[in-house]
Amino acid sequence: MTGATGAIYGIRALQFLRTLGVETHLIMSKWAHASIKYETPWTPESIANLATARNYSIRDLSAPMSSGSWKSDGMLIAPCSVKTLAAIRAGYAEDLISRSADVCIKEKRPLVLGARETPLRVIYLENMLALARLGVGIFPAVPAFYMRPKGLEDVVDHSVGRMMDYFGIESDEFMPGGEKVGGVSEVVTFLLCGQSLYSWWLGKVYCIHQTEQK
Ligand SMILES: Cc1cc2nc3c(=O)[nH]c(=O)nc-3n(C[C@H](O)[C@H](O)[C@H](O)COP(=O)(O)O)c2cc1C
Repeated sequence: MTGATGAIYGIRALQFLRTLGVETHLIMSKWAHASIKYETPWTPESIANLATARNYSIRDLSAPMSSGSWKSDGMLIAPCSVKTLAAIRAGYAEDLISRSADVCIKEKRPLVLGARETPLRVIYLENMLALARLGVGIFPAVPAFYMRPKGLEDVVDHSVGRMMDYFGIESDEFMPGGEKVGGVSEVVTFLLCGQSLYSWWLGKVYCIHQTEQK
């Protein structure tokens, strides 16, 4: 977790992975501590307890994830500041978060960045594009409304669910109301198809009517 706003994304991801019994290792930046304090009723210590394995100091570059020989299934940075985004893009691995992300890229392991800033200036977009081209998942926490969120919790859970999809972790349970994203898009596709068929049928009726008139 870094110091971008949206500490709740990291918290919900840890809670979700804990319920699934997934081993999690947590690193929080100095500014993550600040945003946790500003934005949530949580403390960094209580969030550290959500990690099923361990919590590491961001300064500890001798931690296991600093090395490619330590096997992991990937890394999620949620929320991810544009400062950490820039460090990862540049390969400037001077703390444990940017170093671990660097290791994921070089070892070709899944890396997802819940990058957050607005407005997005050119350098952020360039950094995102460069990393996306390397296969990094860029997941700005952009709310979706098609599942009719009942509140902020639904919005957050939906975004976290989409991030989990990237790791191949089933996120149906995470969807507000247990609704599948696919289900909604299928309904939309069905409605669009229905509409085209209806227009085609109206056109036919019109042509027949015109022919009869002549
Ligand atoms: C309340 C608050 C909100 C912030 N929100 C953002 C944000 O949304 N995105 C961002 O990139 N930085 C944000 N920042 C600035 C980062 O915390 C700052 O750039 C910090 O150096 C990031 O370092 P880190 O990536 O090591 O956590 C925010 C800072 C504060 C105090």
